[in-house]
Amino acid sequence: SPSGNVTVDGKSYQTDEWHNLSSNITASISRRLHVQKDHPISITRSIIESRFPSPTFKYHNNFFPVVSTQQNFDSLGFPVDHPGRSKTDTYYINQETVLRTHTSAHQADVFRANESEGWLISADVYRRDAIDRSHYPIFHQMEGARMWDRTKAPNGDIAAAVLKDIEALPKHSMKVEDPNPPTHPERNPLQKEHSLTEAEAIAAHLKKSLELVVVEIFSRAKAAAVSANPDFVDERLKVRWIEAYFPFTSPSWELEIFWQGDWLEVLGCGVVKQDIMDKAGQPQQLGWAFGMGLERIAMLLFEIPDIRLFWSKDERFLGQFRGLSENLDNLRRFVPFSKFPSCYKDVAFWLRSSSSSAGGGSRANTQDFHENDVMEIVRDIGGDVVEDVAKVDEFAHPKTGRRSLCYRINYRSLERTLTNEEANGYHEQVRKALVEKLGVELR
Ligand code: PHE
Repeated sequence: SPSGNVTVDGKSYQTDEWHNLSSNITASISRRLHVQKDHPISITRSIIESRFPSPTFKYHNNFFPVVSTQQNFDSLGFPVDHPGRSKTDTYYINQETVLRTHTSAHQADVFRANESEGWLISADVYRRDAIDRSHYPIFHQMEGARMWDRTKAPNGDIAAAVLKDIEALPKHSMKVEDPNPPTHPERNPLQKEHSLTEAEAIAAHLKKSLELVVVEIFSRAKAAAVSANPDFVDERLKVRWIEAYFPFTSPSWELEIFWQGDWLEVLGCGVVKQDIMDKAGQPQQLGWAFGMGLERIAMLLFEIPDIRLFWSKDERFLGQFRGLSENLDNLRRFVPFSKFPSCYKDVAFWLRSSSSSAGGGSRANTQDFHENDVMEIVRDIGGDVVEDVAKVDEFAHPKTGRRSLCYRINYRSLERTLTNEEANGYHEQVRKALVEKLGVELR
C-alpha cells in the first residue's frame, strides 16, 4: 500500500501515492561508493579533487541523498512541467521528497552558506533509466563551483581578477574543439547582470579548469595502461565543447570526449544564473558551476567495461584497486576477469488500449506506458544479473490500435555462470510482475 513509512539510512519518511522506490534501491543507498577507501569511484573523486585544491575549494562528501523537490527542482528554476519531475524518471519517497537526481540539488544551500570561494560536492544520485552497460539507477556525480565577489573587485568588475586566475592555471596542449559562439540570444543569453567580458572570462576559466581535469585523467589512464595494453589510450584523443541548456546556468555547455569510436558526454556546466545567487543571499557573487558523472570518468581511467562492476563485492574486482589510494601516481588498469555466458530471453506483450484502462486501473495503457517502468521491474527482480534490456519490436494492431512491445533481456552475471534454470526463474518472475504491476497482456 502506498501510504506507510520507509526508512532511508536510519531516517524515517511518510510515504504516499507518489512513492516509487524499490527495495534494491533502498538497500543500496548506504553503500556510498564515493567515500569507500580504494574504491575506483573514490579514487576518481580524489584525482579530480586534486585539480581543485583546498582552501580555495572546500569538499563536501557527506550530503544526505534524500532532498525536497524544492531543493532538487524549484531552487534551480525547473519549470513545474519539466519531464525530469515525472515519476517515470525520478524516485519519489512522497510527493515532496525525492532521492536527489543530481548533485545540483545542493547548490542553493552551499551558496547560501558561503564558506569558500569554490566548492566540490561528490554524492550518489538516483535516476530511473534504461539498463545497459553504462546506465545504472544509482550513480555518482561531482558538482563544482567557483565564485568571484564583485565587492572585492576594482570598479565592481571581476573580469581582470578572473583573467589573472586563468594565468595561474597550468598550460596544456590537448586539442579541444569549441566551434560555437559563447552565447546564443535565445537559448543561452548573456545574463543582464554580467558584462560580456565578465561572462567570457568566467567561461574561459571554467573550460580551462575542466580541460585540465580531462588531461589529468587521461595522463593517469595512459600511465595505468602502459603495463597492460599500450594501445589503450588513443593518441587521437579528442575533446569538444557543445552548447547545452540547463535551467540554472547561462550560457551552458557540455564536454564530450571521443573515446574508442564514440563521443561520450562527461559533464554539464555553465555560468551560474544570478537569480540562484540572489535567492541564496549572495547577489554580489558570480561564477561558474559544473556537474560531472564519476562512473564515466572511472570507466575511462581504469577501462572498466560494465557499470555494474562498481557495485561488486567480489574480491576479483575490489582487490585490483587495493592500496591505490596511497599510490595515485601508479594506477593499474583493471584486468577483466573472464566473461561469463549471457542468456537472452524475450518478453512480448500488449498494452491495454487507452479506453479499457480507464476502469481497469492499469497504468500501462497505450498512452501513458513508460519504458522506465519495465526497466525498474526487471532491475528489481534480476538485480545485477541483468546486463541489458532492449526493445526489439514494436507495432500497433491495424484495427484496434493497441500497441505490442517486445523486450529482450540479457541475463549475465559478472561473477559466475548462470544456469538456464536460474535465468528462466528470473524471467518467469519478470513476466508475472509485468502483468501484475503494469496490467499488460503477455503474448
Ligand atoms: N546537474 C546537471 C546534470 O545532472 C549538470 C550541471 C551541473 C550543469 C552544474 C550545469 C551546472 O545534468
